[in-house]
Amino acid sequence: MGYDKTAARTMSRIEARKLGVALLVGCCLVILTYFISMSETTVDQEPSEAYRVGAVEEVEEQTLSLQKPEREKKTEDAHETNAEERVHDDSSSTISHATAKEETIETNGPNEEKIVAERRDDERIQMMKPPAEPICDFSNWRTEFCEMKGDVRIHGKPSSVVFVSPHQQSNEWKIMPYVRKEMENIEKVSVRTASSPAAVPSCTINQTVPAIVFSLGGFTGNYYHDFTDLLLPLFLTARQFDGEVQFLVTNIQVWWFRKYHRIIKRLTRYEFVDLDSSNQVLCHPHLMVGLRFHNDLMIDPARAPNGYSMTDFTKFVRSAYSLKREYAASLREQPDRKPKLLLVARKGSRRFTNVPEIVEMAEGLNYEVVHADASFGDVAGFVSVVNSGDVIMGVHGAGLTNFVFLPMNAVLVQIVPCCELEAMATHTFGFPSMAARLHYLEYNITVDESTLLELYPREHPVFTDPQSIHKLGWMKMGKIYLRQQDVKLDVNRFRPVLQKAMDLLRQ
Ligand SMILES: *[C@@H]1O[C@H](CO)[C@@H](O)[C@H](O)[C@H]1NC(C)=O
Ligand SMILES: *[C@@H]1O[C@H](CO)[C@@H](O)[C@H](O)[C@H]1NC(C)=O
Repeated sequence: MGYDKTAARTMSRIEARKLGVALLVGCCLVILTYFISMSETTVDQEPSEAYRVGAVEEVEEQTLSLQKPEREKKTEDAHETNAEERVHDDSSSTISHATAKEETIETNGPNEEKIVAERRDDERIQMMKPPAEPICDFSNWRTEFCEMKGDVRIHGKPSSVVFVSPHQQSNEWKIMPYVRKEMENIEKVSVRTASSPAAVPSCTINQTVPAIVFSLGGFTGNYYHDFTDLLLPLFLTARQFDGEVQFLVTNIQVWWFRKYHRIIKRLTRYEFVDLDSSNQVLCHPHLMVGLRFHNDLMIDPARAPNGYSMTDFTKFVRSAYSLKREYAASLREQPDRKPKLLLVARKGSRRFTNVPEIVEMAEGLNYEVVHADASFGDVAGFVSVVNSGDVIMGVHGAGLTNFVFLPMNAVLVQIVPCCELEAMATHTFGFPSMAARLHYLEYNITVDESTLLELYPREHPVFTDPQSIHKLGWMKMGKIYLRQQDVKLDVNRFRPVLQKAMDLLRQ
């Protein structure tokens, strides 16, 4: 798998720059994680983290709040909203201009009056014609997105887009068709404008529906990334067209469409196009390059088409898999009911070492425990088990992405491994699950519950000064805290969390 090498190369390059730019840092984290996951297990079952901890936050602070630490900024998208306002600012000023001018026109008799009136109309039309809409938006910290309506042509194999419009000055951009700006395994798409169709390729296929260009490279194949990098951004970008939209895909991975076909077929009624092997010039009346993105597994309804929210997304995916349960068990209405607890077991690192003990404790609290040895390959089979749950618990990792299939009011319990991984954990699953109207509980393990204690003495900086490890870079940090660590849950310390979860179901 060539990705490992790519990731390693990227890492050293970025490290050489001393992690100076927050964007690169963000990317680098992800690449690291990818490196870890790709080198360890099968594609579907891997954990992944959109990683931020203290060390990075300092850098972030200085860089125009490109990536604000979520801890401090819960809704966190304010800066993007501002940027959007800026982009759309121009159009209103021209209109007030036009009105002012109209008042100064004077008339001399009926005939001239008519001419003047006509001229006035012409002028008004001229004046009120909005200036060329901005095409590409680079203001988002994670995604680059272009949108064009009119004569838009895309030449498949070179992935080159031309927007033909007399109102456009000639311009060219390179767009990353994936929601992370630095991806070495993805080719950028060129988007340019032309004021006349003279020197642009002619259409070999005319389509009538809008199309979206995106890439299935990057971290595609990791269950968490499949959702945060693709399925949710696709929902945000495509759902508004109610199936009347076509996907033009680079780095195609056909198995991916098969794996998620139930979701995909709700987003588009059209066959996808493998752009990399197409020599056609496809013409669409409306083309988007890149995917909309607000935050990891989060939607800001104020900026989403149709005001979509995270609950619209979870409702959408539940319906794609015909999952019946919308709400978790209410113990207020059914006090005798045993709530179902899904215990997400991992196969690689960050496993529970004392599952039987955990099960016994939970059953003692009157839970029905389902030991979810998730085989994520079979999404459809597994998600119905998830949807039957009232509480899901697991150590931080991709398996918790399944929260999207839980009924509302269910409880997600995230067990956060040692040491100082809380910010990352909350970002990855805490805020998203709350936005999906689940209850979220977090349990930070102590050093005594970490199997790292079998590998390092208690006075080792791994425990006494985690920031010194985080500062070594993501590779080292991830190797220790994410790959070497399992969890021996202290069931007595943990019991109150499951009791709290039960209380929440009683509300
Ligand atoms: C596509 O539409 C354009 C404009 O209507 C037309 O000139 C061109 O011949 C059409 N191309 C094909 C392949 O139908
Ligand atoms: C876990 O640790 C984080 C960071 O120190 C803290 O904000 C959070 O309150 C802790 N959670 C619990 C349940 O103790």
